[in-house]
Amino acid sequence: METQEKKRVIIESLEKDMKEVHSSRECQDLKVKYLGKKGLVTELTANMKDLSNEERKEVGQISNEVKNEVTEKITQLENHWKEEELNQKLEKERLDLSLPSKKFKRGSLHPFQRIIDDVEDFFVSMGYDVIDGPELETDENCFQRLNVPIGHPARDTQDTFYIDAEYLLRTQTSSTQARVMQANTEKTPIRMICPGKVYRRDDDATHSHQFGQVEGLVIDQNISLADLKGTLELFAKKMLGEDTKVRFRPSFFPFTEPSVEVDVTCFKCGGKGCPLCKQTGWIEVLGAGVVHPNVLRMGGYDPEVWTGFAFGTGLDRFAMFRYEIPDIRYLYTNDIRFLEQFDRKDEENEIK
Ligand code: PHE
Repeated sequence: METQEKKRVIIESLEKDMKEVHSSRECQDLKVKYLGKKGLVTELTANMKDLSNEERKEVGQISNEVKNEVTEKITQLENHWKEEELNQKLEKERLDLSLPSKKFKRGSLHPFQRIIDDVEDFFVSMGYDVIDGPELETDENCFQRLNVPIGHPARDTQDTFYIDAEYLLRTQTSSTQARVMQANTEKTPIRMICPGKVYRRDDDATHSHQFGQVEGLVIDQNISLADLKGTLELFAKKMLGEDTKVRFRPSFFPFTEPSVEVDVTCFKCGGKGCPLCKQTGWIEVLGAGVVHPNVLRMGGYDPEVWTGFAFGTGLDRFAMFRYEIPDIRYLYTNDIRFLEQFDRKDEENEIK
């Protein structure tokens, strides 16, 4: 067969084969079939050595042309399929950025913490400092410097967890009063609150061996019981609602004189009488009074110059009232079924 004729046959055959190709892999097979060592194009030059110079030149030239044409055709086809395959792959692996993300739960603020936050907000807005005191305290700060010497009967009302003769778990945040007065070496006015945990040997539905208190202490000149009353009235309204009224009843605390117990109108019945307030219309929320001269003196403040008031309130009671929690122990056992009630609403809960 004439070499030109052979060329035509090869190209025709290639074009036919190319129609059957559906991947870049199959293009490789075509390369082998036509351009490989035993390929159809290579075969054109198989018997070159038997040819005359002239024939050899012609065959060489034609087979070069075939080789170039075949190579170009297969390469083009291969590129076509490679691109096609890449597009398919991209399509398959495409990320849909509009799909909604997984929702993670953020948990919620503990009801106890919510109360602390509100208390702090109120007193900070009134110019108070927020002080943190240690739960492991000395007998001196928790009792002696608060006018409760060793052997004083008032100690019996606060069943204390003693660590040893000197150290105890604080039974009241009032211990911070003693600390703050001592620490204020310049003896300048004091306006502070101290929220925190305290411990007593109690355990029933309304008492826990651990509970929360917030202490308040103001020391300045010309501070009176009227300042205390005004402050606590505002505080009660902020915590329990604008209609809340406050009343003082005489009481006794060793570290204040006079001492008062502070009641607020029942926020459930508004003062009419209900089971929550035991039909009295009032609920006791606070102990307070004018700082005892002995306490001022032990704190380094001259009682002839300085006066002050102090108050202490149970944080748990506020949480129990506000969120209608029937048993104080719910606040401390971290039962997830209880805590979930305080979860944020769905839209607040999502982390995006
Ligand atoms: N510490 C007292 C208590 O735990 C409360 C209190 C504080 C009373 C400050 C008067 C002044 O009961």
